[in-house]
Amino acid sequence: MPERPLKVVILAAGKSTRMKSDTPKVLHTIAGVPMLQWVLDQASALNTIETIAVVGFGSEQVKEAFSHHRAIHWVTQEPQLGTGHALMQCREALKGHNGDVAVLCGDVPLLRARTLNALLDKHRERKTACTVLTARVPNPAGYGRIQRDKKGYVLGIVEDRDLQPGQDSNEINTGTYLFDSKLLLERLERLGQDNAQGEYYLTDVVRMLVEDNKRVSASVVADWRETLGINDRKQLAVAERRARRRILDFLMLEMGVTITDPRTTYVEAGVQIGRDTVIHPCTVIHTGVEIGKNCSIGPFAHLRSGTRIFDGCKVGAYVETKNAILDEGAKAGHLAYLGDVSVGKNANIGAGTIVANYDGKEKHHTSIGDNAFIGCGTVLVAPVRVGKNAQTGANTVVPKGKNVPENTVVAGVPAKELRKRES
Ligand code: UD1
Ligand code: MG
Repeated sequence: MPERPLKVVILAAGKSTRMKSDTPKVLHTIAGVPMLQWVLDQASALNTIETIAVVGFGSEQVKEAFSHHRAIHWVTQEPQLGTGHALMQCREALKGHNGDVAVLCGDVPLLRARTLNALLDKHRERKTACTVLTARVPNPAGYGRIQRDKKGYVLGIVEDRDLQPGQDSNEINTGTYLFDSKLLLERLERLGQDNAQGEYYLTDVVRMLVEDNKRVSASVVADWRETLGINDRKQLAVAERRARRRILDFLMLEMGVTITDPRTTYVEAGVQIGRDTVIHPCTVIHTGVEIGKNCSIGPFAHLRSGTRIFDGCKVGAYVETKNAILDEGAKAGHLAYLGDVSVGKNANIGAGTIVANYDGKEKHHTSIGDNAFIGCGTVLVAPVRVGKNAQTGANTVVPKGKNVPENTVVAGVPAKELRKRES
C-alpha cells in the first residue's frame, strides 16, 4: 500500500513573552544555530511533501534569517491568538491534503529524528485520528497534562492554567502531534477560545475529536529530556547544555574524537572533526568550523567561524582563529590571533603572533607560505604575504602591504631583510 502523504506544520509565531526579548524566540540560538533550525532538521527527518512554518511575532526577521531555505512554505499569523489559531491559518495550505499532518513546536528543539519517525509509525499503525507525543516528566509544571481513559486512549489535554482537582498527571503534552488532515481541518472550523487564557488551543481539537468518537492515542517518548519546551532563558540554558552534550557524544562515539573534558568543551552544532583529533579542556569551537584528523586543539583555544584546520595541525593554548585556514601540519602552539589568514603546510606560528587583520575600517587577508617560521611576538599588519620558508625574528612588525619574499629572514620594526634562509 502506498504511504499516506505527510505535511509538517511548525508553530513559530508566538510572542514568547516569557523570554523577555525583542528577538523572536525561534531565532535564539542553541549550540550556535537558531532554535528553528533544530526544528527544521526534525522536519527534514520525516518523509514530508511540504514544510509549513507559521510565523507572526517578528515574522520578517524570522523569514530573513531563513531566506536561504527555499523549501519553507511561510504562513503568517497576525495577531497570535494561540496554537489552535496558528493552525487555523494553515487551512489554505492544508486544503485538499489527503493524508497526515505532523505538528511540531518551534520551541521544542531537541526531539530526535528517531523519536518522530517512531511517532509516525505508531500513528500509521494504529490509524487513529490523532497521535500525541507525550512524556512522563519529573516536573510537569507549565505543560498541558494528558488525561487517559481506562483503555489508555487520550480523553483530553488540560493546560496548566486550566487544571482542576484530580487532573494533574506527570504525563505531559510535548506539543508534537500527528493528525489525520481532514479530521483536523473539520475541527479547526469549530474551535473556540473558552479557557483561562482566552486563546484558541490546539489541544481543544483533541477533546473535540474524542467527543465525536474519534480515537486519539498517545505515544510516550523514550527519553523525556528531548521534549523540553523553551519558554524562558533558564530553559534555553538547559537546552544549550543538553545539545552540547549530544554534539560531544556524537563526536566521541561516532567520529572517534577524544574530548578530555566534556564539561568544559563547547562545540557548536555543525562542526566537523576528524578521527584521532584530541580536544583539550576549555576549548570553544563555533559552528561551521572544520578540523581534520590527528590534530591537537586547546586547551583554551577559541576557533571561530570560517576556520578550517587540515590534518596533523596543532592549535594550542590561548590561540584564537577566525576565517583562518591552516594547511597540513601547521602549528600555532601558544598565544596567537589568526584572523583572515591562510597558513601553509608545516608553517610554525610563534607565541604572541598577531595577524592584525582590521585597520579600523576594513578587514584584510594575509597569507603565510609553507614551512614559514613566524618568530615570537611578530605582528603582521594585513594585507601581508609571507613567502614559503620565510622567517621573521622576534618582535618583528611587517607593515601593511609589505611582502616577505620566499627563503628570506626579516627582523625589526619595520621588518628589514637580514639574510636568506636555507630551504
Ligand atoms: C503548548 C501546549 C501544551 C504543551 C506545550 C509543550 C497548547 C494550548 N498548549 O503550551 O499543552 O504542553 O506547548 O511545549 O497548545 N504559537 C504560535 N501562535 C500562537 C501561540 C503559540 O505559533 O498564537 C507557537 C509558539 O511560537 C510555540 C508553540 O506554538 O512555538 C507553543 O506555544 P507556547 O505559547 O509556547 O505554548 P505552551 O504554553 O508552551
Ligand atoms: Mg512553549
